[in-house]
Amino acid sequence: MTGTETGSDAGSETGSTSTSGSTSGDSETTDVATDEGSEVDDDEPPIMCEPPQRLADAGACTGRIVGVALAANRLGESSYATAAREFNYVTAENEMKWSYNEPSPGRFDFSAGDQVASFAERNGMQIKGHALVWHNQLPGWVESLNSAQAVREAMLRHIREVMAHYRGRVRAWDVVNEAWNEEGTALRDSVFHRYLGPGFIDEAFIAAREADPAAKLYYNDFDGEDLSVKSNAIYEMVRGMVERGVPIDGVGLQMHVRIPDDEPSLEELRENMQRIADLGLDILVSEIDVRWCNGETEEQQAARYHDIIKICIEQPRCTEVTIWGITDRYSWLNVPGAPSCPNGETPHPLLWDDNYGKKLSYDAVMLALQGL
Ligand code: G3I
Repeated sequence: MTGTETGSDAGSETGSTSTSGSTSGDSETTDVATDEGSEVDDDEPPIMCEPPQRLADAGACTGRIVGVALAANRLGESSYATAAREFNYVTAENEMKWSYNEPSPGRFDFSAGDQVASFAERNGMQIKGHALVWHNQLPGWVESLNSAQAVREAMLRHIREVMAHYRGRVRAWDVVNEAWNEEGTALRDSVFHRYLGPGFIDEAFIAAREADPAAKLYYNDFDGEDLSVKSNAIYEMVRGMVERGVPIDGVGLQMHVRIPDDEPSLEELRENMQRIADLGLDILVSEIDVRWCNGETEEQQAARYHDIIKICIEQPRCTEVTIWGITDRYSWLNVPGAPSCPNGETPHPLLWDDNYGKKLSYDAVMLALQGL
């Protein structure tokens, strides 16, 4: 699949979705009807569509799938579940990570990840698997492996078993997550890199393709959105993978950003997306949230969401947009230690406020997804 696909499969695979209801229902049984169509095509004018009821409908207008990160322990909260049904794609915020699903060697526990997957399936949403090989949220037993053979066996078994469990249910996997250090000057000193060298990345992708040939395979990272040392490093890495025939389908730009418009610069974001697209890879806005700090306004936050997502919509190979959570109240940025506002303010980074009121950012994303 490497280097040969066009960006048009996002729409055709997903189809447009529509619900009979608005966002006010409490039950998990909202009808979701899918229909075919909504392909992205460079030469075609934007697809006209009905006034969208949900964010997913807005994305269907331009052939994109629209995702959200969900936490299993919030799904019982009716306002949370209702807002979640605005989307047609789900990433488990934590529950498909290694520390959750293989807490001790060879003992797999998919119960938490399955709660998120079942919610998605009951509601007609596709699923993104996140994340197979990552230095973070790794159980201690993996961290303490001390030979190349032990690390390789553990990594390959993990990829094989987790992907086998979700085979046929998960559309795409973040196979390797955040392999580069903060600045992009070197690969991180993870247990994988330490014992297997940089080749652990190729090995992981090759194993992932074998484990589920139908799943799309992504490299996912943060702070590699505009043109920088880090985005250059990521670009060169995936370019090499494509040249070597390593099975990779796309690059996730996480997009945990702030309001100032040079972080990332929109022009550079556009250029970075284009050079990745030119390799024949898809691009995902994989974890967007926008911190609102230091006297900035809600309007500015909304504009930032709009402008970034619009750039994705203008790039035919940018196939997915995922918002990293539902309500500000539960954002990962609202916990101690997260990279929140410089002065310690709460960053209110999402589309729904603490009480599930839709923010200006919600309307802005709705417009951007339609290409407006
Ligand atoms: O589940 C435990 C709970 O039992 C315990 O009482 C509590 C006490 O702190 O911690 C809970 O675990 C937390 C977990 O989220 C679930 O809430 C962890 O401490 C906390 O570190 C963890 O944070 C997650 C973070 O990844 C870990 O690095 C965030 O929710 C999650 O949003 C964040 O997501 C990452 C992506 O996976 C990769 N890209 C960056 C993104 C943001 O950091």
